[in-house]
Amino acid sequence: MDNCSEKIILPTLDPIGQDLLDQAWAEVARQEAAYEPGEQEDLRCRIKQLLKEQDAVLVAHYYTSDDLQQLAEDTGGTVADSLEMARFGHEHPASTLIVAGVCFMGETAKILNPEKRVLMPDVQATCSLDLECPAHLFAAFCDAHPDYTSVVYANTSAAVKARADWVVTSGIALPIIKYLAEQNEKVLWAPDCHLGSYVQRETGVDMLIWPGSCVVHEQFKAEGIKTLKKSYPEAQVLVHPESPAEVVALADVVGSTTGLIQATLNPEVQEFIVATEPGIFYKMRQASPAKTFLEAPSGGLGGSCESCRRCPWMAMNGLRNLAQVLESGAHEIIIADEICQKALVPIQRMMDFAHNHQIVMKNKGNA
Ligand code: 13P
Ligand code: SF4
Repeated sequence: MDNCSEKIILPTLDPIGQDLLDQAWAEVARQEAAYEPGEQEDLRCRIKQLLKEQDAVLVAHYYTSDDLQQLAEDTGGTVADSLEMARFGHEHPASTLIVAGVCFMGETAKILNPEKRVLMPDVQATCSLDLECPAHLFAAFCDAHPDYTSVVYANTSAAVKARADWVVTSGIALPIIKYLAEQNEKVLWAPDCHLGSYVQRETGVDMLIWPGSCVVHEQFKAEGIKTLKKSYPEAQVLVHPESPAEVVALADVVGSTTGLIQATLNPEVQEFIVATEPGIFYKMRQASPAKTFLEAPSGGLGGSCESCRRCPWMAMNGLRNLAQVLESGAHEIIIADEICQKALVPIQRMMDFAHNHQIVMKNKGNA
């Protein structure tokens, strides 16, 4: 986090503990243990049946496994970015939403749909950004700067959202911050310092930035990308803005998960170096099977693989725990009414802004 904005005013946060990552990888290993003959197909059939019986729809993030993305598509659910997951779950008539992703996505679904049952394959699937922004510290940050408009990234807890003026996802952060800059607002931003400093650089807005970061994206290495580019000089570099500034500086396209998938539809370009979680390759390859997609080099996360770019918490979602929650009704997202009502205000503000400014939330060319 050394290259985050010099405006950071908070004490250094405790780094995400290796034990937490190890726990997540241990669960991933359970989910990904080799299937007995026929088990995978049985699980798929059971899940399809249970989704019908329970009036449930599967809403999966682009970073989940190919298995889950395919199942969401085959059963009338969706595979999407965090903003579109929220919109889809809100508009779909099913009374139960199964959110395959990380906890803040399940919480956002619940906040937007308090009358629906929201289940997740594993409620321990967290996010380093959420972990690094405890609600009491965020409240103190806001209290210390009452003249700032607070904008939080969607990757935060319901309690943090309940204290914020705006919620944004990476797909809508730039237009919302541009809008606030035009209103001469000063912005207090949390928690992703890299996305925060990216929108700050792009808009010039007066911004105070929280020092959180994504354990996956902060590992991408500019030097590694430069080296790879020598072997693939025609490749476009696609970068999620949770990556460090020196990686963003190498990008041909900086964008949310949906934005990056859309970039791969460009008929002029055949090769891409992609700096984001590799779950995204499922959709990229589906849309452009003949193109070449390369993972951007990264420092790795420890855990079960040496140079893994995978998000351990996204990877905790599997066919096995999905079938279990549908059978047992466990892992339901419950949020206190007061928090739910307060958190709805900034989320709804974002949804209304997206609607009014016709921000395209879904990867229409690919879905
Ligand atoms: P999107 O909002 O682009 O889906 O990204 C969510 C996320 O967790 C990225 O790491
Ligand atoms: Fe959070 Fe990073 Fe995982 Fe996205 S990839 S859910 S930001 S830890």
